[in-house]
Amino acid sequence: MNAKCYAVSDFEHQHQGALSFEQYQAMYKESVENPDAFWAEHGKRIDWIKPFTKVKNTSFNKDDLHIKWFEDGTLNVSANCIDRHLAEHADQTAIIWEGDSPDQQQHVSYQQLHDEVCKLANGLKKLGVQKGDRVIIYMPMVPQAAYAMLACARIGAVHSVVFAGFSPHAIADRIIDCQASVVITADVNRRGGKALPLKHNVDEALARDDVTTIKHCVVFNNDDKQLDLPSSQVWWHELTKDCAPVCAPEEMNAEDPLFILYTSGSTGKPKGLVHTSGGYLVWASMTHQKIFNYSPGEIYWCAADVGWITGHTYIVYGPLANRATTVMFEGVPTYPDERRIGQIIDKHQVSILYTAPTAIRALMAKGELAAQDSTRDSLRVLGTVGEPINPEAWQWYYEKVGKTKCQIIDTWWQTETGGAMITPLAGTTPLKPGSATLPFFSVQPALVDSDGKELAGEAEGNLVLKGSWPGQARSIYGNHQRFIETYFSAYENVYFTGDGCKRDADGFYWITGRVDDVLNVSGHRLGTAEIESSLVAHEMIAEAAVVGYPHDIKGQGIYVYVTPIAGTEVSEELTKSVRDWVRKDLSPIATPDMIQWAPGLPKTRSGKIMRRILRKVAANEYDQLGDTSTLADPSVVDNLIENRLNR
Ligand code: WTA
Repeated sequence: MNAKCYAVSDFEHQHQGALSFEQYQAMYKESVENPDAFWAEHGKRIDWIKPFTKVKNTSFNKDDLHIKWFEDGTLNVSANCIDRHLAEHADQTAIIWEGDSPDQQQHVSYQQLHDEVCKLANGLKKLGVQKGDRVIIYMPMVPQAAYAMLACARIGAVHSVVFAGFSPHAIADRIIDCQASVVITADVNRRGGKALPLKHNVDEALARDDVTTIKHCVVFNNDDKQLDLPSSQVWWHELTKDCAPVCAPEEMNAEDPLFILYTSGSTGKPKGLVHTSGGYLVWASMTHQKIFNYSPGEIYWCAADVGWITGHTYIVYGPLANRATTVMFEGVPTYPDERRIGQIIDKHQVSILYTAPTAIRALMAKGELAAQDSTRDSLRVLGTVGEPINPEAWQWYYEKVGKTKCQIIDTWWQTETGGAMITPLAGTTPLKPGSATLPFFSVQPALVDSDGKELAGEAEGNLVLKGSWPGQARSIYGNHQRFIETYFSAYENVYFTGDGCKRDADGFYWITGRVDDVLNVSGHRLGTAEIESSLVAHEMIAEAAVVGYPHDIKGQGIYVYVTPIAGTEVSEELTKSVRDWVRKDLSPIATPDMIQWAPGLPKTRSGKIMRRILRKVAANEYDQLGDTSTLADPSVVDNLIENRLNR
């Protein structure tokens, strides 16, 4: 925590128009002490159909939980992201699409974006989609993914984007949970030179008996050829062929839902976090602009996937609300080889790159090649998100990618928060490698011990947030009680993040990682409970426990302990079949890194699995197991240690 501190003046790129640090402090104070006045002013950064007169109406008391912002205002999110830029900037590029193959690209102007979104919006109306209906979007990283999101927003339908790496099982669960009536997908997903079938996962999901709500499936033709579609499905181009490129935006209340996004928690199935229209868009646009000191028209590249919250807020909604030129990249950073990121930056003259530590570590591990054959001179700011960035990766990003000219903006936030929360502001905040630095406006972090006692000054504890901010999720779809229990019941009158955190003597925050049973694997959030329930569905497995362990590139790896059903002979093939099973049942991102067969799992006398012990064995710290005297059968531990895989 005594890391080197970089002043803003240490970086060659100075940021015109950035706040001074004193201005940030004054604004921050105002945002906390007088949120109504602060957000009354900043709420005006987006266009309202009917301006709000009320600003903040929130309580984190679990018996009276309510979160409302700008509640009597009306707006349309797609009109804010498109129409309001047309009068003077219709020809400006809104989206630069870079294909998987380096010779494929497309520039989509704001006018074209408008026309494509309106045509699809009209197409969806033709299919009977109405305000409030749920639409699943399962798409590759093509502009049509953004069109689909914005078309839903235009007609007031609630989208739920499902990451294209998820399995039929995961798609089906989400369709059932939100009772979606339409799925929008594509025939193939191109990655790393391959065209992977995509729609067939949707077909499998739709074939399930318990998936009953889908009335239509719209398919974007992303392949060179065309499949035969069953009569229950319609090609995107057929659906929109005769649709007008004009569609009046639906007037939405600020608190009407904009989207549902599923994310993993400690227990049970993924939760559908509900984000609403007004507060979310204000937060998306304000954070995007202030954090990157963004000015309209700059080329900006967030290398996330639209299937995650980072893609929602910082590829689509924030940048487009700010009249950005936003880059969408279909492929992977290492195809054709690891020079690709630098080449894309040079080719499109990208000023701002926003990516995840895992991508940085993966390039770093490949050696010098990543920095060859590109100058990256256009870069001004480098952002990172999704997991703690280790100081070595920070230095590499800073020295090799940004050639020591660019500030590294380490943004801490969550699906639930809608946008960045603890983060430096480019040109404003001093930096310490590995720290997400200081809170954004109205964000009030606090550290509490396990009894909920707030810790003052330099401290380490569980990270909670006092008081609301406009971009916050409002509920879990269909289960508001679970929302209250998950986030507002662990400690009184605060939002519990699930993260551990340190605060240093300068008041800077250092996120240490999840304190619950959520894993962060290559920046992807996965619940151990989800992986366990997939494992026990394998016919040879009686019991399973999953923990994370430190992994050089992924941040965390997935370590699985499995007990076979009695009489099963354990073999390499069986281990492989377990790995393949999870991969197919959940997603390739959930593939176990290590699978240890264990005749027994360490349990207390009341039958609770002692994960602490499993984590220590997985981390190869078996000499620090702590007290094992409460175990029902202490001898299982010897077996676990003897057969540990991470040596
Ligand atoms: C982790 C991604 C450290 C954290 C936007 C959080 C981070 C979880 C950072 C949310 C960061 C995200 N430093 N940890 N800069 N950013 N995290 O919902 O554990 O996919 O709770 O949202 O990622 O993951 P999610």
